[in-house]
Amino acid sequence: MRTQVAIIGSGPAGLLLGQLLHKAGVETVILERKSKDYVLSRIRAGVLEQGTVNLLAEAGVDARLRAEGLSHEGFALGFANRRLRIDLKDLVGKVVTVYGQTEVTRDLMAAREAAGLVTIYEADDVALHDFDGACPRVTWTESGRAQELACDFIAGCDGFHGPSRASLPEGSLQTFERVYPFGWLGVLADVPPCSHELIYAGHDRGFALCSMRSPTRSRYYVQCGADEDLSAWSDERFWDELRARLDPEAAAHVVTGPSIEKSIAPLRSFVAEPLRFGRLFLAGDAAHIVPPTGAKGLNLAASDVHYLAQGFAEHYGERSSAGLDGYSARALARIWKAERFSWWMTSLLHRFADQNSFDRRMQEAEFIYLEGSRAARTALAENYVGLPY
Ligand code: FAD
Ligand code: DHB
Repeated sequence: MRTQVAIIGSGPAGLLLGQLLHKAGVETVILERKSKDYVLSRIRAGVLEQGTVNLLAEAGVDARLRAEGLSHEGFALGFANRRLRIDLKDLVGKVVTVYGQTEVTRDLMAAREAAGLVTIYEADDVALHDFDGACPRVTWTESGRAQELACDFIAGCDGFHGPSRASLPEGSLQTFERVYPFGWLGVLADVPPCSHELIYAGHDRGFALCSMRSPTRSRYYVQCGADEDLSAWSDERFWDELRARLDPEAAAHVVTGPSIEKSIAPLRSFVAEPLRFGRLFLAGDAAHIVPPTGAKGLNLAASDVHYLAQGFAEHYGERSSAGLDGYSARALARIWKAERFSWWMTSLLHRFADQNSFDRRMQEAEFIYLEGSRAARTALAENYVGLPY
C-alpha cells in the first residue's frame, strides 16, 4: 500500500489533519491502535476556541457543531466562596463554544467515511521506519498479519504515549516537563448544569470545575490525588465533594444523578522540541501536553494541524518546502504561550500539598487583582479564547 501522508492516530489531531489534507487534494491513510468505538468512548475536552471552530468549518465538519454547540460569552472563577465573572465578549470581543471532543471526533470520522478515505482501526504494533531518508514506511499487524504502508511523509498524531515520538533517536529531542502531584476526577451525568456558564473554582479543599455538554448533560471535575483509586469515589462522595468546593449559590444549584462516566486524568505540562525529524512531523499530544485547566489541549492540537496542513498543501501544490520547514518553529511559538497560560491557571486554582500560608495568600492576591483590574481580566480572556494563529 502507498499514500502521500501516513497519519498515526485517529484522535482529533490525526482526523482533522486527514480532513484538511483531503480538502487540499492530498492523500492520507490513518492508522489507529484502538477500535472506532473505543476512540468514541473517551470523554475529554469540552471547550473550543473560535480558531478551532473555524478550522472545523474549513474541514467541512461544522454542521452539527453549529446546531448543537453552546456559545459561551463568559465563564466564572470561584475563590473562597466568591465568584468572579470573566466577560469574554466584553473584554476581548470573542466567545468560546462548548462542544465535546467526542462529538468533534464523531463528526470528523463521519466525514472521513463519507469521503471514502482509509482509516485502519485496531492496527497493532505500529512502527515507523526510514523517516530520516526519502522513502519512509509504516508497518503494523492486522489480525496477526504483517502490513506495510509506503509514504512521502509521516504525521505523528498518536498522543502522549504513541510510537512516533518514541521512535526518534536518543538525543534528537529536547523535552521540558512538569508533573503535577494531583489529578482530576471527572464525572459525566445526565443532569442539568448548575450554572449556564463554566465555573473554575479554587477552594481550600482543592479545585473544582463545573462544565457541561448540553442543557441536560453536565461534566464536573474535582482535583484528587494522582494515584487515587476510582472505586473509592462513589457518586455520592463525588457530589458531596463538588458541592463543598463551590460557592453557596452554585452548590445549591447542583442537581445530582447517576454518573454515566467517571475517570481520573493525571496533570502534566510537557513540550518536545523540535517537531520535525526528516519526514516525520509531530502534532498534538504527541508533541506536548498541557494540564486541562484552561481547556487548551484539543485547541493546541488543532492549531498544530493547521500549520502542518498548510505546509503539506504548499509542498504538494506549490512545490515549496517553506511551510514544512517552518512548521516546528511556528507551532512551538503558539504552544509555549498555551503552556504558560495552562500552567498559570493550574497554579492559581489548585491546592498543592507543599503550599504554605504565603503561597495561599499569593493565590488569593492574584484573584483579588483579577477582581479589581480590567487589564488582568483582559489578559486572562485573551488567552482563554485562544491567541491568534
Ligand atoms: P489523542 O486524542 O490522544 O489521540 C491520539 C490517538 O493515537 C488515539 O486515538 C490513540 O489511540 C492513538 N494511538 C496511540 N498509540 C498508537 C499506536 N501505537 N498506533 C496507532 N495509534 C495510536 N483537554 C482539555 O482541553 N480538557 C480536558 O478535560 C481534557 N481531558 C483529558 C483527559 C484525558 C484522560 C486525556 C488523555 C486528555 C485530556 N485532554 C483534555 C487533552 C485533550 O483531550 C488532548 O489534548 C487531545 O485529545 C489531543 O488530541 P490528539 O489527537 O493529539 O491526541
Ligand atoms: C472541560 C474540560 C476542561 O479541561 C476545561 O478547562 C473546560 C471544560 C470539559 O470537559 O467540559
